[in-house]
Amino acid sequence: MSSLVSIRFQAFDLEEMAQAEGRVVIIIPAEGKMGPAARRANRLTRGAVARLVESDRFAKVKPGDVVSLAWPAGMAAEALDVLVLPRRPDTDEARKAGAAIAKCAAGKPVLVMAANQVRTEDLAMGIALRSYDFDAHKTKESDAPGGVVIAHSKHAEVEAEFAPLYAVADGVRMTRDLTNEPANVLTTTAFADRLAEMESLGLTVEVLDEDKLAELGMRTLLSVGQGSDSPSKVVVMHWNGGDKDDAPLALVGKGVVFDTGGISLKPAAGMEDMTMDMGGAGVVAGTMRALAKRKARANVVGLVGLVENMPSGNATRPGDVVRSMKGDTVEIINTDAEGRLVLCDVMWYAQERFNPVGMVDLATLTGAVIIGLGHENAGVFSNNDTFCDAFLKAARAEDEGAWRLPLGKKYDDMLKSRIADMKNVGGRPAGSITAAQFLQRFVKDGTPWIHLDIAGVASVAAETSYAPKGATGWGVRALSRFVADNFE
Ligand code: BES
Ligand code: MN
Ligand code: ZN
Repeated sequence: MSSLVSIRFQAFDLEEMAQAEGRVVIIIPAEGKMGPAARRANRLTRGAVARLVESDRFAKVKPGDVVSLAWPAGMAAEALDVLVLPRRPDTDEARKAGAAIAKCAAGKPVLVMAANQVRTEDLAMGIALRSYDFDAHKTKESDAPGGVVIAHSKHAEVEAEFAPLYAVADGVRMTRDLTNEPANVLTTTAFADRLAEMESLGLTVEVLDEDKLAELGMRTLLSVGQGSDSPSKVVVMHWNGGDKDDAPLALVGKGVVFDTGGISLKPAAGMEDMTMDMGGAGVVAGTMRALAKRKARANVVGLVGLVENMPSGNATRPGDVVRSMKGDTVEIINTDAEGRLVLCDVMWYAQERFNPVGMVDLATLTGAVIIGLGHENAGVFSNNDTFCDAFLKAARAEDEGAWRLPLGKKYDDMLKSRIADMKNVGGRPAGSITAAQFLQRFVKDGTPWIHLDIAGVASVAAETSYAPKGATGWGVRALSRFVADNFE
């Protein structure tokens, strides 16, 4: 497990600059106007900062860039990082600037001389998000833990503004940890245990075991896990921060801890990536953590279906017919289209038990969504424009890519089965849409619903603005904001 970088706020005091170890950050707008910290750094370094500002190099900088002066004379720090940023950046600029600072710091202690910088809480958020490093399985000691100190003229105010953002950053951290963790470590049982630990944050956590799931009739979910030695589980996390009588928002996550494809076995090349096939459940967990830590004034219930899709003598065969909890029968043409079989039972259970005001499901559901949208946008599907637009707005505000795709009867028709109520696959065309159509068959008429296909965004091969390679935590920020703006 990784830990969140520590971020402290203190009064703005120029006297600390000379002695600070690690890295010292000063902020200069692109026009080059130096504030008190820049002038002090300039004096300590006998004019180095002024020479930088007057250089050709500085003429080419963009807001958010960092220019590092290594081993500055007159300072104890190993680097003076000059961050180029207007005094009044927008949220996005401030967060990206913070991410740039974190990337330079690479685990070293940092003193940020923020003076009276506007949106310093967002700058700190960028630092918190980008300081992430998944080193749980690196034997070699990692760099001494850094720690960030932000000096600001109104430090108490900034600290208060930052508190809920820090809670969200911790949710993102948890999602990334879960998604990065290999499948021999994050078994269904280990996953459920990590969720149960969140009771200490004030969440109520129930773990439903296989006997209970059989009793509830979650047969399609159980059919996915039956080839694995790891027991299938459904975990229900309750956050009751709202009025007692308000129905909750339901978040539902696909938690396939490893997806071999089952008897419809995947090819070997790249199969190791399927450790991230629990990414949807990871986002639900991280969002519940964020809501609890920032004490959201809303009722939200998070449900995850935790299974492992393995081939074995007891595994589901292609052609098997299974009856869902809802009662509809499914002909399982392809055991690799397993996510929808997990989700359909958990979604049905969520509606039967909680009658939620709305339901959002998240899943690394289809390779097809990567063909369509790449790694920049999650696929968004919905039966309700107002509900969907509210989510898209939150995602935009958090700079998390999300793009709506259509649903329709003709797509639904592609799921017709000769011998059962439906097949679990609709063929190659529009693979992400037919997967969404399958799920929609398990959404009750009056339930506003959004399906997020995050196969392309949950874990990526190149670093993003806020994350190193690997798990991104996509969705935690958007969902936390979606709750704040619409349910609090
Ligand atoms: N977990 C995969 C989807 C996936 C692919 C996630 C790549 C992340 C990266 C899912 O269970 C799956 O195997 N989907 C199949 C569906 C097909 C059999 C209809 C797919 O996309 O190929
Ligand atoms: Mn699969
Ligand atoms: Zn899968």
